Amino acid sequence: MDIIERINTLKKEKNAVILAHNYQPEEIQNIADFVGDSLELCIIAKETTADIIVFCGVDFMAETAKILNKDKKVLIPEIKEVECPMAHQIPPKIILDAKKENPNAKVVIYVNTLASAKAISDSTCTSANADKVINSFEEDKILFGPDNNLGYFVSKRTDKEIICIPKGGGCYVHQKFKKEDVLTLKKQYPNALCVAHPECAPEVQDLADAVLSTGGMVKYVLEAQAEEIIIGTECDMIVRLNHELKKAGKTKKLIPLRKDAICDPMKQITLEKVEKCLTNEEYEITLDEEVIEKAKKSIERMLEI
Ligand code: 13P
Ligand code: SF4
Repeated sequence: MDIIERINTLKKEKNAVILAHNYQPEEIQNIADFVGDSLELCIIAKETTADIIVFCGVDFMAETAKILNKDKKVLIPEIKEVECPMAHQIPPKIILDAKKENPNAKVVIYVNTLASAKAISDSTCTSANADKVINSFEEDKILFGPDNNLGYFVSKRTDKEIICIPKGGGCYVHQKFKKEDVLTLKKQYPNALCVAHPECAPEVQDLADAVLSTGGMVKYVLEAQAEEIIIGTECDMIVRLNHELKKAGKTKKLIPLRKDAICDPMKQITLEKVEKCLTNEEYEITLDEEVIEKAKKSIERMLEI
């Protein structure tokens, strides 16, 4: 039996489901039961009937799956190297201090945060629904974090005052994209459309033809009239997009906005680690019961929308 057959056998024996984010390496996307963006994976994690969820992604994503499934075993194939640096930029103290200064504001935080931050927020959001979540509140002032670029994206889609916390928060992968990268590729491919993630800088968002979550990019690439599309997000998104194009019987040239847009924590998951994870049932995500209950309210407020 090869490693893929062994993983599939273990999965059946243990009634496990494998969820993978769109930025996972190709071999992981290929063995996953579901591949998607943060919001899609939240919804699948909430609805699954599997006994074990193996989450192939970064720390906050596996935590979110646990929050939504406190009675299930949620495993992540690697524990040390899978921290999303942005998720660690907003510890609870930053939120509590900002709340003291702005007692009438609501707190909306990106799902790319730790459970302890979610537990003291009014709602989470993802890049697919940030504007809808913010506009669903009656209050005029929103404390929003940690991604300031996503803050810029929402501020263009709401009349509310968006206060970003902490100042300068953001994703080291998407911060690499510069205006010049878009201009150079647009010159090289004059007929190409450019789609960028809302974690990109305002100057990149403003030049892009569309600004979308990774799930939104799948729909956009499938439906766009253009034959060439520049992809402004993590490079393995192109694996997912090519897979969807193939399924639809289409071919398009997808051009990475930068070839060095690699999220290192996402690349720490390997087939060997997935097999070990299913065999030994490690590493299990555990969270404080009270944190789970409070963080769940914040995620469910988002899922209601
Ligand atoms: P999506 O929700 O668009 O998949 O984004 C998640 C992420 O981590 C982007 O860096
Ligand atoms: Fe975190 Fe950025 Fe990686 Fe997304 S791409 S998981 S925000 S480091």
